[in-house]
Amino acid sequence: MAARSPLINVMVNAAYKAAKGLVRDFGEVEHLQVSKKGPADFVSQADLKSEQILKRELSKARPDYGLLLEEGGGTAGKDSSNRWVVDPLDGTHNFLHGIPHFAISIGVERDGEPYAGVIYNPVVDELYWAEKGQGAHLNERRLRVSARRKMEEALIGTGAPFMGHGDHPTFLKQAQAVMSKTAGIRRMGAAALDLAYVAAGRLDGFWEAPLNAWDICAGIVLVREAGGYVTEIGGGNGMMSSGSVLAANDQLHRPLGDLLRSV
Ligand code: IPD
Ligand code: CA
Ligand code: CA
Repeated sequence: MAARSPLINVMVNAAYKAAKGLVRDFGEVEHLQVSKKGPADFVSQADLKSEQILKRELSKARPDYGLLLEEGGGTAGKDSSNRWVVDPLDGTHNFLHGIPHFAISIGVERDGEPYAGVIYNPVVDELYWAEKGQGAHLNERRLRVSARRKMEEALIGTGAPFMGHGDHPTFLKQAQAVMSKTAGIRRMGAAALDLAYVAAGRLDGFWEAPLNAWDICAGIVLVREAGGYVTEIGGGNGMMSSGSVLAANDQLHRPLGDLLRSV
């Protein structure tokens, strides 16, 4: 069994606790699809409950860390080097529509850099975890990015912008460029899991902009520890502030980036 550090154990235990509520609520969501009011309010409550549990558990274990929570915002900690970066429910629209592809994402940023990550999809009981220098794992298995070298064989994940969000014309050009050179594009609806899938070699690459720090902090560590590369689409290292992300295996990061930058 792969040895988890005390830090990773804290993150895993918090994720498991919050996931119990999410799974219970996900079971209810299907019934609410047909109700007049719809499940939206219910889902935002599920999201908030998950965040409260995560905040409580993480702060109890590391009271001095700062916090960046999707719903609750940022709080400085006594320890100015470390902060939790948390998405209590990534893939909200999947959850809302009864699609079992969503996750809790917990990252640790240390001295401004993603340092550790746990991403948990409770429906399939897939726990992704990674810490800088310690490798990336799915449950007990060590992860490695895919070995595909040819763009024409690559499966590339992305996030399509939606109403009121993102740069639609640029995305359409990027998608056209990528679909004409690869085996296909997937828009699965949970950015944290997209990055975990790159780490697991299920996807060969992924791009999206703009995302937020809580969508990507944990996933960046996973991809890097699995031997892949993560940069902004333009090639820089400012993903946590710009929210622009390009992740891929070591062979395809450059050609995928060149293609996206050519539009
Ligand atoms: C969203 C998902 C989605 C991505 C969006 C994110 P949320 O997060 O990760 O895949 O395309 O940009 O906001 O709202 O489900 O936590
Ligand atoms: Ca998210
Ligand atoms: Ca969220």
